[in-house]
Amino acid sequence: MKKDLISMEDLSIQEITDYLTAAVKVEAMPLNERVQFLPGRIMATLFFEPSTRTRLSFESAMHQLGGSVIGFAEQSATSVSKGESFTDTIHTVENYSDILVIRHPGEGTARLAAKESHLPVLNAGDGSNQHPSQTLLDLYTIQKDLGKIEGIKMAFIGDLKYSRTVHSLIRALMKLNVTDFTLVAPESLRLQKYFMSNDEPGKYQFKETDDIEEAIKNCDVLYMTRIQRERFPDLVEYEKVKDSYVLTASMLKEAKEHARVLHPLPRVREIAYDVDKTKHAGYFPQMKNGVIIRQAILLKHLGVQL
Ligand code: CP
Repeated sequence: MKKDLISMEDLSIQEITDYLTAAVKVEAMPLNERVQFLPGRIMATLFFEPSTRTRLSFESAMHQLGGSVIGFAEQSATSVSKGESFTDTIHTVENYSDILVIRHPGEGTARLAAKESHLPVLNAGDGSNQHPSQTLLDLYTIQKDLGKIEGIKMAFIGDLKYSRTVHSLIRALMKLNVTDFTLVAPESLRLQKYFMSNDEPGKYQFKETDDIEEAIKNCDVLYMTRIQRERFPDLVEYEKVKDSYVLTASMLKEAKEHARVLHPLPRVREIAYDVDKTKHAGYFPQMKNGVIIRQAILLKHLGVQL
């Protein structure tokens, strides 16, 4: 049976752990061994929304595994611009490839593609909903940098309403027994209550605050996000909040010695460039981990046992 990766909600703790374990094995493997895994296999990248990291790291991952890549980076280059439907596009591309990687602005589109296609579908971001491969690379980075995930204290800062990376990651962390969350967001971009609900009353603490310095002092991981202009129905609202939080190196003076600043990237102004030189900056290695975790994902979903 084919296996899709659509939402962190679908994954058990064991499945999440399996991806992370596979990534450790992949990273330890020399490139000349990895290249033997997927010769003749084709990955299609269907990107209806812009991307740098996700698309190119998936493509790099597939090339390093010996496979090849087809696809498009924008809708305007496809027959969708002539009026072809999303599902007809899926049914077309599935004839030319072995696995589909899809990014689309519409929430639920990856799940629709998975339902329509006989191929494995990997969700590379559907609107504000989910971005599971990003979450797996975030978890891999945390595990690598801090040596553990369970019990860490998380602070999320920025756009918590529209950020699919935040939505995916919070759900995964809750499954992995992370219980202490500090949330810093402008009033209009707060995390929806739905994400804080669960079946274990009292287990999780979500502290909403405007005190960014306090959040920095207490956390093990500071997860910054971009205020996403493209998600705002009204750009006047975007202008009001776009520079709400800007992290600078001096603000990290009170941070724990081991604290890491992560960000799914791209950044705009929310992390000042002087943070890059601090010992806390974890977002560049985090981005680099994208190739490793996506190799682990491709291998698993194309049926290769490590
Ligand atoms: N983190 C992430 O999804 O980046 P891109 O939009 O560049 O793919």
